[in-house]
Amino acid sequence: MIDVRILNMNEERVVDVSIEALFSTFPKIETERLMLRQMEAMDAMDLHAFYANKKVTKHLDWHGPASAADSGTLIESWNQAFRERRLIPWGISLREQPQLMGTVILMPTRGAFDDEHRFPLTLGYDLRPDQWNKGIMTEALRGVIDFTKHYIHPNRIQAEVVPDNQASIKLLSKLGFQQEGLLRQYLMHEVTHKLLDVAIMALLMN
Ligand SMILES: CC(C)(COP(=O)(O)OP(=O)(O)OC[C@H]1O[C@@H](n2cnc3c(N)ncnc32)[C@H](O)[C@@H]1OP(=O)(O)O)[C@@H](O)C(=O)NCCC(=O)NCCS
Repeated sequence: MIDVRILNMNEERVVDVSIEALFSTFPKIETERLMLRQMEAMDAMDLHAFYANKKVTKHLDWHGPASAADSGTLIESWNQAFRERRLIPWGISLREQPQLMGTVILMPTRGAFDDEHRFPLTLGYDLRPDQWNKGIMTEALRGVIDFTKHYIHPNRIQAEVVPDNQASIKLLSKLGFQQEGLLRQYLMHEVTHKLLDVAIMALLMN
């Protein structure tokens, strides 16, 4: 099993693991306080509970899964996409408390991880509001970026952020992402159909 605890993240080396090996088991990541792990059907209630909080979806382009059942379907579709090597869907828990409190999704901007050298990777993330402002997402994304750097070594990771989402822009800036521009009317909200501008934030890795 791939376990980032064995890596010295200060080292500049990359690890040569084939994409088949990388996707043979779910790549769990442990950080100082957190466990980034695979989500399962039993996480559906928790996933629904935090998406049901309007604070979480305020700056997103959807309102989240409509029920615990929809959350279960969503988790299964993420896990299916992982099996197809199109996406890595981590659930965030505290190390000593397995309850799901957030997600980090990493995916190629187009195609699958097998096409790693052709396409940038895109990051998405959400956290339960009672855990905001404790440095949790900074720690989770650092773990994911270190993992990506060592095992996937893309040249670029990017994120799409609605410009009003100052928490997300600050978080990414702290991690070294730079805003490259504003994509005008780039997303249509799934429910309201409002057109949203998007700030594109990117981290170059080489
Ligand atoms: C964005 C989000 C993941 C941040 O998670 P978090 O764990 O609270 O972030 P951190 O505690 O690691 O904070 C990162 C930085 O952002 C700052 N920050 C957090 N909330 C902020 C806010 N509302 N306004 C301005 N800065 C903010 C923090 O102070 C911190 O900077 P600092 O270390 O200099 O103090 C969380 O607010 C969230 O889940 N929001 C809803 C979903 C969402 O918007 N997802 C991203 C879509 S692009």
